[in-house]
Amino acid sequence: MEPSLKRIVMGVTGGVAAYKAAELARLLVKRGVEVRVVMTAAASHFVGAATFQAITGQPVYADLWDARVSNGMAHIDLSRDADLILVAPASADFLAKLVQGRADDLLSTLCLARDCPLLVAPAMNRQMWENPATRRNIEQLTEDGVALLGPTSGEQACGETGYGRMLEPETIIEAVDAFLQPKILRGLNVLITAGPTYEAIDAVRGITNRSSGKMGYAVARAALEAGAEVTLISGPTALTPPGEAQLVNVTSAQQMLEAVEARTEETDIFIAVAAVADYYVLNPSENKIKKDAHILTLELAPNPDILSNVARQDTAPFCVGFAAESENLEEYAELKRKRKHLPLIVANDANAAIGSDDTELILLDDDGRHVLEKTDKLTQARRLIEHIAKLYNARYQ
Ligand code: C5P
Repeated sequence: MEPSLKRIVMGVTGGVAAYKAAELARLLVKRGVEVRVVMTAAASHFVGAATFQAITGQPVYADLWDARVSNGMAHIDLSRDADLILVAPASADFLAKLVQGRADDLLSTLCLARDCPLLVAPAMNRQMWENPATRRNIEQLTEDGVALLGPTSGEQACGETGYGRMLEPETIIEAVDAFLQPKILRGLNVLITAGPTYEAIDAVRGITNRSSGKMGYAVARAALEAGAEVTLISGPTALTPPGEAQLVNVTSAQQMLEAVEARTEETDIFIAVAAVADYYVLNPSENKIKKDAHILTLELAPNPDILSNVARQDTAPFCVGFAAESENLEEYAELKRKRKHLPLIVANDANAAIGSDDTELILLDDDGRHVLEKTDKLTQARRLIEHIAKLYNARYQ
């Protein structure tokens, strides 16, 4: 959780998903956030105030005229000092009230009187979600600057399956975290390559690199969180790409090169995270090669260096490379940075980084080295994006 998030008002409205709000509150408290729960009357039919009070260690509010608030103005007092208001679950009715700016209970009044961001996690039956009235309301809320977290598609309490299911508490926390990231790349087009490439030997076999794609996908996510338009060109991976990225799936290095070159002109920042195979097979067989007792010789030809091709152009975008090395890490990475004409290269230990969730990164640029201590790849990606934004701004603004 972002250290800047200290105190939130958590609104709970009437819906079956209200029982998950208790878990959400627990996870927020566990991350050191002070949570003040405000329930609507309908919410109390699904979950009791005592649950939230026990979990948050704070009084729970439901009444506009709560006598515990010394100045009698709970609607102003409660959200003062709050970093944000998060309504989860947000019912169809509550969203409609927000659109109209109604203030007939404590939570809606708080939302109207707020001077902090408002995030809502809708939860409702799929037909309610698809109803034109809800569609209009969602459009209006987005226009009004309310951040929507979900919903997602899946099984619903009514037994139907479809859109309207509230995001899981962990996912809501991730979405809140993403929302809080500074929008330092707003208005910029970022192109990212990720994953391995696969060079066919025959119909079923190929040469590839050990790369999970985790780092590249994390960089794509961090760039999106920073407000960039992101195109992710990905070799074969088992990962789910971030929904808001424009995804281009490729297999071979040649396809990756073509996909990159088709987009270079409109790109402001190019981050090459992909582990591109150094060679491809000159004459791959269309059919499966039959096994026999003889030695099989493959003819390999070097693949084009995608990053170098882009970086040497006169109107090259700001180019960032990755260097995974198993020895002499920084020395080899710096040589690579010079050879490829890159303002920045990210060095990481090939043996430690591949497939793992945590990694240490060393950033090498004209100013020297910057060590990003070992932690999860999304945090590292956010730190990297911060560094890139600094260098980019220094160069172009
Ligand atoms: O030369 P090396 O493969 O170690 O360079 C690594 C960096 O260059 C990475 O950023 C990688 O994505 C990029 N690269 C590339 N095309 C290649 C080989 C590497 O874009 N054919």
